[in-house]
Amino acid sequence: MITVGAAAILGAAAGQAVSAPPPAPADDVTPQVVGGTRAAQGEFPWMVRLSMGCGGAMYTTQLVLTAGHCVNGTGNNTSITATLGVVDLQDPARTTVRSNYVYRSPGYPGGGDDWALIRLERAVNVPTLPVASTTAYDSGTFTVAGWGAATEGGAQQRYLLKANVPFINDTQCAQAYSDLIPAEEICAGNWSSGGVDTCQGDSGGPMFRRDNNNAWIQVGIVSWGIGCARPQNPGVYAQTSYFSAAIAAAAADLGGGGGEPQPTCTTQANTTRVSIPDAGTAITSPVTIAGCSGAASATSTVKVDISHTYRGDLVIDLVAPDGTAYRLKNSSSSDSADNVVATYTVNASSEQANGTWRLRVQDVYAADTGALNNWALTV
Ligand code: ARG
Repeated sequence: MITVGAAAILGAAAGQAVSAPPPAPADDVTPQVVGGTRAAQGEFPWMVRLSMGCGGAMYTTQLVLTAGHCVNGTGNNTSITATLGVVDLQDPARTTVRSNYVYRSPGYPGGGDDWALIRLERAVNVPTLPVASTTAYDSGTFTVAGWGAATEGGAQQRYLLKANVPFINDTQCAQAYSDLIPAEEICAGNWSSGGVDTCQGDSGGPMFRRDNNNAWIQVGIVSWGIGCARPQNPGVYAQTSYFSAAIAAAAADLGGGGGEPQPTCTTQANTTRVSIPDAGTAITSPVTIAGCSGAASATSTVKVDISHTYRGDLVIDLVAPDGTAYRLKNSSSSDSADNVVATYTVNASSEQANGTWRLRVQDVYAADTGALNNWALTV
């Protein structure tokens, strides 16, 4: 994966390479150019190598998030082998697991949603990489990793390589790629000097960074680019903040067990951001469940993603189609932490599953505000 040119200036602001050399032809990989640096064993424990020659990241212990273009479509699929738990693909300690189902984003091909989930035939004992569900992390310096080519046109790698790539904003990236879909794709690389990038065989692997708690969070999925590491031709990544709710809904349907996915009635998400007024009236956000039969589950779950500067201000309810409210969270004047990123379990077994459910959020103390980023209901 990853070509790192001698000219690569990691962390340089996009378009501001210091003493940039004349742009080299893309295939001019000089001897002093090193491949990306080797990742240490265990450094990125959720990295997966897929047998069709792509990368991926463990999304749950049984689901691999990869690129849509790495798979053929949706359906039963036992043809893919995932290798994980190692940086050296020949390491005798590696874990290999077969797939049993593939779900490719229904919008692929066509949009920017170059993502797919591969369900493994069993769960594996490695950490997972959370996917960013807000745009808060869609800038800065990112890390990429993979076993793809270390130079444009070069061979696949035995050892996992890593590199850092600066964010490139949509306006600049669109100068390189008129077909960029700015809301759904995120670009990274050294704009003027190139030299560092993902490359063929890295597709499907994650682009990630540290979040506010210093934990790794995935912001992109390796998707495409013209050549590799060419100046003014950055890497393009599916933007996970845009797709996180759709990925979460698909993952919930895929479940962890074998066999067919659950019917799609069970999970619905609303990804429209709603501002929460300070000490104001409650806001609501609807989702409509259809195609289920009978009652909702006694262990229905509500996945909530709220940005807020003082979460103790917030009261959160799930409101059933018949108007019954289920309290998910009370206010607390002493809980000064930021944000509510949580999954609540609700006994909704006395409700019909089908209908329009609402998440109701009210800020009951003055001074701090925020927004509901998205939420998902599994009934
Ligand atoms: N599509 C390529 C693959 O299948 C990944 C290309 C990434 N290219 C880039 N310049 N960042 O592996």
